[in-house]
Amino acid sequence: MASLLELSNVSLSFRGVTALNALSLTVARSEICALIGPNGAGKSSLLNVINGVYRADAGDIVFDGARFEAIRPGKAARLGIGRTFQHNALFRRLTARENVLAGLSRHGGACFIENVFRFGRDRKERNDFAARADRVIAFLGLDTVRDRIVSTLSYGTQKRVDLARALVSEPKLLLLDEPMAGMNQDEKKEMSRVIAEINRTFGTTIVLIEHDVGIVLGLAHHIVVLDYGRKVADGAPEAIRNDPNVIAAYLGTVH
Ligand SMILES: Nc1ncnc2c1ncn2[C@@H]1O[C@H](COP(=O)(O)OP(=O)(O)OP(=O)(O)O)[C@@H](O)[C@H]1O
Ligand SMILES: [Mg+2]
Repeated sequence: MASLLELSNVSLSFRGVTALNALSLTVARSEICALIGPNGAGKSSLLNVINGVYRADAGDIVFDGARFEAIRPGKAARLGIGRTFQHNALFRRLTARENVLAGLSRHGGACFIENVFRFGRDRKERNDFAARADRVIAFLGLDTVRDRIVSTLSYGTQKRVDLARALVSEPKLLLLDEPMAGMNQDEKKEMSRVIAEINRTFGTTIVLIEHDVGIVLGLAHHIVVLDYGRKVADGAPEAIRNDPNVIAAYLGTVH
């Protein structure tokens, strides 16, 4: 089966505010799919529905061949859906490495706090988790900061720690909510390179939200444009770049 994720007619509203309006979307295995659209278009809501933070009011979601209903974030993580949040969700007083280990807390028998402070029950699991965390830390070039307290790190480095935390559980699907927000152009290019490398090296399917259309056109294999909770365009970067509706409604404002 080529697609990893399929949404059909998914709707979500908050006390009369429509966040998602009968949205359908297919994400192929191993692709980088970017969600773009103006503020309030429903991009974060879409990620929140995919990993069970919100429950859709209507519609179907099929992930990796199975339909899911009433899914919760813990279950989504166990099924292989990892994510980062638009607003930093790291433990600010813990080290980078402890935060990365926290990304494994839903995958083992021991609870999160035991994993972090190393008095877990199962020594083998602990060693296995430590080795996985260190591999991801090395892959993302975080070795020199791994024992630093997160709140002392630069914003860009914190975003990278958050990415490591999401990646350490080896998700099939990685959801990234504005991983480059607040970065300068060089930092964005570097983050973009890292995301492409994750995709290439592990074959991880990635759905990411990013406002910088130039970056998105260079990084994504597939772009979905949302506006008012509806899909206004869906296709390869070349098609999106030349879509008159997209140019008028969205790209026109940046070019
Ligand atoms: N928890 C919530 N309670 C009430 N309304 C919400 C909630 N989450 C989202 N909304 C509303 O749903 C709509 C879509 O919001 P969402 O955060 O998904 O947009 P977005 O595309 O991610 O925007 P941005 O680019 O600003 O992050 C908005 O009108 C927003 O106010
Ligand atoms: Mg958002």
